[in-house]
Amino acid sequence: MNNNTQPKVIVANWKMHTTSTEAIQLAQGVVTGFREEHGVSVILCPPFPYLTAVSDVLRGSPIALGAQNMYPEKEGAFTGEVSPTMLLDVGCKYVILGHSERRHKLGEADSFINQKVLLALACGLDVILCVGETLAQRKAKQTEALIDSQLSLGLASVPADALSRVSIAYEPVWAIGNADHHATPQQAEDAHAMLRTRYEQIFGKPAAEAVSIQYGGSVVPDNAAAFLSRPGVDGALIGGGSLKADEFLAIVQAAVTVTKSEMQTA
Ligand code: PGA
Repeated sequence: MNNNTQPKVIVANWKMHTTSTEAIQLAQGVVTGFREEHGVSVILCPPFPYLTAVSDVLRGSPIALGAQNMYPEKEGAFTGEVSPTMLLDVGCKYVILGHSERRHKLGEADSFINQKVLLALACGLDVILCVGETLAQRKAKQTEALIDSQLSLGLASVPADALSRVSIAYEPVWAIGNADHHATPQQAEDAHAMLRTRYEQIFGKPAAEAVSIQYGGSVVPDNAAAFLSRPGVDGALIGGGSLKADEFLAIVQAAVTVTKSEMQTA
């Protein structure tokens, strides 16, 4: 069981929001307000067109750049797609893959997501793999089986020496962008524990103890500490709550506070 001593990772997923001016201002606001703290990492994932501009803002800061998606080829005739080498070229260190909006709105299958995971890792990007069940799947008690298959298919053939560059975001689909229906911290804790057990069965105990599992789904300043202080919740993937610098920084501050109190009691 993870003992909450690894750094908390707070990821901003801006989705298809902001103008170029807003993206730059938002990144500047986060850079200005973030004091580097031991034990908390921050990653900003703007839309593709603003990666370069945000990369420029983040240069020299402790905040990393991530992309929200990529295509599983390095180059070629793939109109409208973006390759992992392009993401590296503009300064990305991370890429979010398998987000539920891509799975459900764009029909991405586990096998396709797996191709992306393998190429991202081979090219040198770190991967944040999203998994999570729909409300119907939860009601039908399929959560465990679903997460099991998303994990094992999504990470199939990942070499053991690349596992340290993979983190998981557990995002129950029914709790994303849904302030009235977010998961409870207990539900997040339970799902993370189940996920980590399954991860252990696939990759072994050391890898399962080391893997960072972030929670995503309507995390906002008011509930961030409640999620982040749960055993096995190693960070958060933030959508709506990442679009205003002060709100996002409040979530980061919650991670800093939780980390400090965990260090005192460790
Ligand atoms: P939300 O989005 O914080 O707006 O619920 C999270 C996500 O989809 O990554």
